[in-house]
Amino acid sequence: MCIFGCQEKIAYPNSEILDVPRLNYYMIQLEKFKMQKNGKLTRWEWVALSQGYNIADGHAHHDQGRNYSKIIKKLSSIFSLAESQNQNQIQAEFEHFFFYLAGQKSYNKLNRPLYHYSCSLSIEVVANYFRKHKKTVALLHPTFDNLAAILLRHNIKLVPIEESQMLHDISYIETINADVLFLVCPNNPTGNELGRDNFKKIVEIAARKKQLLVIDFSFRFFSSYINWDQYKLLHESKVDFIVLEDTGKTWPSLDVKIGTMISSNSLYPELRDITDDFLLNVSPFVFKLISEYVQADIKKGSIRARAIVEENREVLRSVLKKSKLKVTNKNSALSVEWLGLPPGKNGEQLTEYLNQKSIHILPGAPFYWNTPSGGDGYIRVALLRPAKEFKIMALKFAKEVENYYTTV
Ligand SMILES: Cc1ncc(COP(=O)(O)O)c(C=O)c1O
Repeated sequence: MCIFGCQEKIAYPNSEILDVPRLNYYMIQLEKFKMQKNGKLTRWEWVALSQGYNIADGHAHHDQGRNYSKIIKKLSSIFSLAESQNQNQIQAEFEHFFFYLAGQKSYNKLNRPLYHYSCSLSIEVVANYFRKHKKTVALLHPTFDNLAAILLRHNIKLVPIEESQMLHDISYIETINADVLFLVCPNNPTGNELGRDNFKKIVEIAARKKQLLVIDFSFRFFSSYINWDQYKLLHESKVDFIVLEDTGKTWPSLDVKIGTMISSNSLYPELRDITDDFLLNVSPFVFKLISEYVQADIKKGSIRARAIVEENREVLRSVLKKSKLKVTNKNSALSVEWLGLPPGKNGEQLTEYLNQKSIHILPGAPFYWNTPSGGDGYIRVALLRPAKEFKIMALKFAKEVENYYTTV
């Protein structure tokens, strides 16, 4: 017997290792895992990676199409180039292309970025900095739950920035007493973005009140934030800031991704020290690979993920036309759809029901990290999937939602 309780069958290194008993064991583990939900979004997403229709996580799972397929065909030469060139040159090349596509010319007025293997790891670095300086943090609410979870694990005092209040009247930000304002632009899951004027006002308030501004731009490529230069504004305002960027929500590189952090001068040495304790460098192969994806979009003159999201959003909205679910943000700037349920209905119950039908989405409550009941009436559906598959998933989703609401 092997340690997993199945019949031992050592057959390295080929795929025989996954014999039937072992596979069965994994499936049982998956079922157990599903039952041990801890209420966190990633747990719902993880199950969807191995089973059924996955419209749960907001990562880039679309197909390679003709252009990106060319990248996959030359993977070995990308690897060789990554081996032969120096790290600094490779990073500079990535920065050049990434910030060009992001519309952020002024990035090069600032310190060179710090790099991590994911945006969550960038947030972990930020959390270490906050803990050391005993910073109190005002974090956008609702937003993806792991931001709050990472900060809370460092015993950081969190207060919510209510997004609805902020969008209703930006001077609400003046009333927030915390050392740090932590925003997500555009916000996940609501798809709201701050217009240029409101963004500017927040920067002015933070600079005047000497608050540190942290902005997570993970989903920038779906928004209008690629149309104007936020780095110029931040740099000229003299506000203290940390900006986080991500590639994993935009390019379908199987979660090989780069978390980027740029900060104002006074914070930089310490953030670099913390980063150095976590890693020497992000692999030059990763930089080279992601640079290829970014360049492919630059050459094409459009961001492929954005076009797919538009197409899939239209499909979803059309199959939901007669549904009881309501689109909450007609102008969403995000690669997901945030849907409202009929009054009094519960998103977690619907998500559980859909799970049993092999459809994986996310319930709304965990996004409301401060008051989970505020999200009971919502669910989130991811859009960045191959268009053909998405059509099938959207139809099945709409049909099962209809079935559900005829029975409950
Ligand atoms: C706004 C935002 N920032 C950061 C993250 C973390 O990204 P990752 O899981 O790639 O670390 C997420 C995850 O969905 C997110 O929504």
